[in-house]
Amino acid sequence: MVQYVNAGVAFVGCGSAAPVGYLDNDDLSRVVDTSDEWIASRTGIRRRHLAAADESLRAIATQAAQNALAMADLTAMDVDLIILATSTADDLFGSASQVQAELGALKAVAFDLTAACSGFVFALVTASQFIQTGVYRNVLVIGADVLSRWVDWGDRRTCVLFGDGAGAVVLQATDEDTQLLGFELRSDGTQNSCLNLAYQPQPKELTDTIGVAQGSFQPLTMNGQEVYRFAVKRVPEVIEKALFRSDLSVDQIDWLLLHQANQRILDAVADRLKIPSQKVLSNMAEYGNTSAASIPLALDEAVRRGDIKPGDAIAAAGFGAGLTWGAAIFRWGKSALRAEISH
Ligand code: ACO
Repeated sequence: MVQYVNAGVAFVGCGSAAPVGYLDNDDLSRVVDTSDEWIASRTGIRRRHLAAADESLRAIATQAAQNALAMADLTAMDVDLIILATSTADDLFGSASQVQAELGALKAVAFDLTAACSGFVFALVTASQFIQTGVYRNVLVIGADVLSRWVDWGDRRTCVLFGDGAGAVVLQATDEDTQLLGFELRSDGTQNSCLNLAYQPQPKELTDTIGVAQGSFQPLTMNGQEVYRFAVKRVPEVIEKALFRSDLSVDQIDWLLLHQANQRILDAVADRLKIPSQKVLSNMAEYGNTSAASIPLALDEAVRRGDIKPGDAIAAAGFGAGLTWGAAIFRWGKSALRAEISH
């Protein structure tokens, strides 16, 4: 095996995909007792893209990955590792291998990583370890979720929040300085009950003495106010810690890229960190909360719009079920180092 000892991590491509079909707030008000005014003023969400019954997680994850590989100017055969962050795999055994097959990334090893809405940040950090230890050169990190399958469409407190989508980045080993500057990951299982998509066992007796469970997963449940309090307190803390490790101050950050859960959470976190609103990326009006997909989806749109430029410093943070939360500070793009000098 080729080793790239003490390699740095470069962010060389991104891509995204979402189902074509969408439901706006007025459409949703015909499904549950709600209104565009209530949803938009409390969350910033106007519509969400939803996967049809015949659309798979695998398909949108693959599309996002293909777009990211094209931007990176790589082929599927160049990929060494695929990490798929998802909580809604098509197959409980994992969907990363299905994506690997659909991409034709025949040399890549592929596995799923589950950390709910923090999944993309956790996967990014995991992938970077494989690069920095010199094991792999080209890594695809995908965040994809189809939470519409697991939302209770009769519960107005939760169903208005979520949508489906996928996003991906390509990380590459570089012999220049690493562009993943610092990170901080956290979990607190004592607060697990705030946000669940839990398995409900149904006992099944096999013999007089041995029984097993044959159950199913229940729709998503959430204590919205607890999650709000948790996010607004804990997310600024991890961003500050990751910035400290990166040797950067808040005002050196070009973009705040938070998990797109709720506009009020984005505003409150930015406010606490004293980051002006024009540096805060938000696309939740269009997509709602797409869980592990939301950060790479917003990243990809901002890169393709030309807002994020090579060398820009990005503070990304995910937070969600587990509870889990984490931040990663990185510079965008192949020519990051040259761009930094010309700033
Ligand atoms: N439309 C109309 N009325 C509604 C709706 C709705 N969609 N949802 C709730 N209500 C009503 C409730 O029934 C309640 O009425 P009542 O007082 O007569 O009982 C009232 O509005 C207030 O309900 P709350 O649940 O207290 O609403 P809250 O002000 O907390 O807002 C929200 C709910 C937007 C979810 C908020 O708690 C929040 O932002 N939480 C953060 C959690 C979050 O964003 N989670 C995303 C997923 S988790 C993640 O990604 C990390």
